[in-house]
Amino acid sequence: MHMPSTNPRAAWLHAARQPLRVDQAPRTAPGRGEILVRNRAVAINPFDGIVQSLGSLVTPWLRYPAVLGSDLAGEVLAVGPGVSRFAPGDRVLGLALGVEKAANRPVEGAFQECVILREACAARMPPGLAFEQAAVLPLAFATAACGLFLSGHLGLRRPSPDRVSPACGDSVLVWGAATSVGSCAVQLAAAAGYRVIATCSAHNFEHARSLGATACVDYHDPAAAARVVEAIGGSPLAGVLCVAVGAGGACIDVAGRCAGARRVAMASVPVSLVDAPLEAQFRWNLGRLPRLALGFAGLALRARLRAVRTSSIWGTAVIHDPWGARLFEDFLEPALASGRFQAAPRPLVAGTGLEAIPAAMQRLAQGVSARKVVVSLPVPMTASDWPAGTAPEYTSASAH
Ligand SMILES: NC(=O)c1ccc[n+]([C@@H]2O[C@H](COP(=O)([O-])OP(=O)(O)OC[C@H]3O[C@@H](n4cnc5c(N)ncnc54)[C@H](OP(=O)(O)O)[C@@H]3O)[C@@H](O)[C@H]2O)c1
Repeated sequence: MHMPSTNPRAAWLHAARQPLRVDQAPRTAPGRGEILVRNRAVAINPFDGIVQSLGSLVTPWLRYPAVLGSDLAGEVLAVGPGVSRFAPGDRVLGLALGVEKAANRPVEGAFQECVILREACAARMPPGLAFEQAAVLPLAFATAACGLFLSGHLGLRRPSPDRVSPACGDSVLVWGAATSVGSCAVQLAAAAGYRVIATCSAHNFEHARSLGATACVDYHDPAAAARVVEAIGGSPLAGVLCVAVGAGGACIDVAGRCAGARRVAMASVPVSLVDAPLEAQFRWNLGRLPRLALGFAGLALRARLRAVRTSSIWGTAVIHDPWGARLFEDFLEPALASGRFQAAPRPLVAGTGLEAIPAAMQRLAQGVSARKVVVSLPVPMTASDWPAGTAPEYTSASAH
């Protein structure tokens, strides 16, 4: 087992509503089924800021100090017992579970230099894919797969990694196709053989089409739901993935008006939480939380009236499913290698080093359009920090 000669560092969250503090992290050897990864890029998700600001309201189990972050790409430093898929030097992308209830372990959070990943949550990156580009995928991919394919959600026909499934004639609506989650969902549903109807801003139609959308509707159009129903036409609607704050009502209306499964899986909530302040929250809570509760109640009533079944997605749950637990290995890795799956959307690199993460989180809170906010992590270690013969070569494609 080999580690960098200096202690790695992490962006620590010492308590809810505190700023992140970059400080040393303990060296941890990977356990059974785990790999130790030297992070080269991390991506920011809305959830990171929500956990930091709202703490026990969303993650009551979280032990502090904690390390946030779900998305990363880097190089394998060491593998634990029983790991056969990876070796030191491999370039991987991975879904970090530090904040997950089942893990709840800072060393598994993405926002640090060396992270422990579970083997099942990692996929080898194809040559030429930059770390910053690869880091856009893990949580968005897991969330899209969870909502589309697990039986508790839409339970759709599953895609094969090596061929596009024959068209089944059914449609899937991805409301929010320019989001990171939606960018993965469009590709996954298209790969499974569905006609994908996408909503996004008009300037992202090409983005959605390039990922496999059959038809695009601008959600700013007051008649967007009716336009979506038109685009679905006579084809049965196999399900709706709702990936946009506040779009649940429109998604339920569409599912209720179309022949088909009458199912909506929701990745997002009725009211935005990304602007929760770190301090002086009482007034914010007083204004927002009742609206959130009312929003959920309104959606439940609407779904009942339209005879539509809804479900709320917890993206990382996919890895607790027997099929989902193999998704990074059986689907993502080969599909990235063959070019059948793209690491989309494009990264928006907001800074370099762990110190850049708070500003990157703020950048995301300001809103993005078909971009994922990413932070590059430099490599301070020298070749002598690597086991003999395993020091990776940085090509212009993998360097930033
Ligand atoms: N439940 C989970 O496990 C889980 C996991 C990950 C994410 N999420 C949630 O899923 C949502 C998306 O996350 P993300 O990181 O993928 O988002 P993101 O990439 O930051 O989302 C930005 C995009 O949202 C789109 N958008 C905004 N309002 C919209 C609307 N009314 N209809 C359609 N599109 C709209 C915009 O599209 P245009 O640019 O085209 O206007 C923009 O490109 C967030 O609410 C996030 O919290 C949930």
